[in-house]
Amino acid sequence: MNNREQVAQAISEALDGQLTVEDIVVKIEQPKTSDLGDLAFPTFVLAKTLHKAPNLIAADLADKINQTTFEKVQAVGPYVNFFLKKGNFAATTLAAILTDKDQYGAQNLGNGGNVPIDMSSPNIAKPMSMGHLRSTVIGNAIANILSKTGYHPIKINHLGDWGTQFGKLMQAYKMWGTEAEVKADPINKLLEYYVRFHKEAKEHPEMDEDAREWFKKLEDGDEEATRLWKWFRSESLKSFMRIYDELGVKFDSYNGEAFYNDKMDEVVQILEDKHLLHESKGAEVVDLDKYDLNPALIKKSDGATLYITRDLAAAIYRKREYKFVQSLYVVGAEQINHFKQLKAVLTEMGFDWADQIHHIPFGLITLNGQKLSTRSGRVVLLEDVLKDSIDLAMKQIEAKNPSLANKNEVAHEVGVGAVIFHDLKNERLNSFDFNLEEVVRFEGDTGPYVQYARARAESMLRKANKTTFDLDDISIDDPAAWNTIKALSEFGDVIKRAATEYEPSVVAKYAINLAREFNKYYANSKVLVEDDGLNARLALVKSVSIVLKESLRLLGVESPDEM
Ligand code: ARG
Repeated sequence: MNNREQVAQAISEALDGQLTVEDIVVKIEQPKTSDLGDLAFPTFVLAKTLHKAPNLIAADLADKINQTTFEKVQAVGPYVNFFLKKGNFAATTLAAILTDKDQYGAQNLGNGGNVPIDMSSPNIAKPMSMGHLRSTVIGNAIANILSKTGYHPIKINHLGDWGTQFGKLMQAYKMWGTEAEVKADPINKLLEYYVRFHKEAKEHPEMDEDAREWFKKLEDGDEEATRLWKWFRSESLKSFMRIYDELGVKFDSYNGEAFYNDKMDEVVQILEDKHLLHESKGAEVVDLDKYDLNPALIKKSDGATLYITRDLAAAIYRKREYKFVQSLYVVGAEQINHFKQLKAVLTEMGFDWADQIHHIPFGLITLNGQKLSTRSGRVVLLEDVLKDSIDLAMKQIEAKNPSLANKNEVAHEVGVGAVIFHDLKNERLNSFDFNLEEVVRFEGDTGPYVQYARARAESMLRKANKTTFDLDDISIDDPAAWNTIKALSEFGDVIKRAATEYEPSVVAKYAINLAREFNKYYANSKVLVEDDGLNARLALVKSVSIVLKESLRLLGVESPDEM
C-alpha cells in the first residue's frame, strides 16, 4: 500500500465506507507547504451528500480517523491534513520503488489509446536545424512519458519532402551543380545551392518562375524531376539517420509530405462538396473569418497544392489509420497560426475529432543571442554540436576519472545526454541561448549533474556490495533523508503532470531536484557505516538510482553506471 492508499483507507474507514478507497485516492492532494502536512483530503466532494459545510466535515473526519497510524491528523478549514509517520512513509515509498523497479510511477491514464506524435520532420535537402532538434527530443520525451501513462504513442517523422523549395533546388542544381559534387558532400552542397539561389533570385526574379515550373513538373510526375527528387531525398535521409542514431531516437513512420500526394484530391473534393472553397486572386482558399484567422490557402493558381493541404490529408489519414484519441504536432511556436488554421478547416469540414488535435509549440534556440536561419546560411550543423559536446564530456571525464574503463561510450552518453537534457529542462515555450560550455558542466542544472548523482549512488552500492534488500527493514526516520524520500514519493504525480501538460521539463526539473536532495543527504550522513540502519540507507540509495535512471530514460537520456 502506498502513502495515498494508506490515507484513503483511513478516510474510507472513518466514513464507514461511504466512499471507496479508489474514490478517495484520486482526490488526495499534496499541500503546498510541509507545515500543512504531507498529504491532504479536501472535503468539498462530500458537502453535497452529507449536507454539511466542508469545514465541519473536515473537523468531524479528523476526530474519527484512527490517529495511531499517523504522526498527526489535523483539520484546517475544509481540508484534513495528514502528517505521515516518517519511518512508515519511508518504508512504503522505498518498498514500492524496490518492488516496481523501472515500473515505479507508471499509471494508466490512456487505456492504450493511440497518440500519433508528429515530430522532428526536417526538410529534405537542408541541414537539420536546432528547431528540428528540439522537436525531436521534445517529441521523443513526450512519447516516453505518454507510454508510461498508458497511451500508445506513434512517432511520425513528417518529412518536408515536397513543396516549392524542391523546384528551387532543382533549378539551382541545373544551373550550378554536378553529380560528383553532390555525392561528395550532399547536405552541404545542396544547402549551398539553395542559399545561392535565394541570393541570386533577388536580382533575377525569372529564376523563381523557373523554379515554380520545376516543382510543377515534379507534381506532374515528370521523369527527370522525380529522379532528382528521389536522389536528394535519399541523400538527406542518410544524414538525418546519422543524427537520430546519435540521439537514440527511433520513428514508427517516415511518411512525409510527399506520402499525401495521392490523398489530396479527396481533401479538395470534401471542401468543394461543402462549398468551403472559393477563389481569391486566382487561388482556392477557405475563409476562416469567424475564427479570426487568415484564409487557408488550399491550391495555388497553377494548381500546386500547399503545406496546409498536405497537413489536412495527413490529419484525415491518421484518424483513419490509427483511430487516435489525441493527435500531437511538436512544431515550433512560429507555426501556431498554421495549426489553428488546420484545426479550423477540419472543424469546417465537419470532423468532430478536430479538437483531439493539439499543437505542442516550443520556443527558439538562439546561438550567442543570434537567430539561426537556413536561408541566410547561418546554420549550426547538429552533428558538429553533438561532436563538440562529446569531446567536452571526454575532457571532463579525463580530468575526473582518467582510469574509467569504457570512456568513449560514457563520453557519448554524457555529451549527447547533456544536449538533450539542456533542451528539455527549459519549459518548452521558452526560448533559450545555446552555450556548449554551460550545457556539459558537471555542476548546476545539467544532464551530467543528474547522471553524476546517479553514478555516485551506483558506486556506493558497488562499494557496499549490495544488490538485494530486506524490505521489512527499510524504515528511515533520519530528518536528513526526509526531502529525498518525499521527492521519491512524488514521482508518479510528476509524470502525470508532465503527461497532461505535454511538458518534459517537469520531469527534468524533478530529476535535478532529486539529485540535489540526494547529494545533500549523503554529504551530511554516513551512509556506508556498518550499523542497524545500513540496509535501509542503501535501500534509499538504490531507490534514488532507480528513479533518477527512469527520469533520465523518460527524457531520452542514458545513465552510465560509472563516470
Ligand atoms: N517540415 C516542417 C518545417 O521544418 C515541419 C513540419 C511539421 N509537421 C507538420 N505536420 N506540419 O517547418
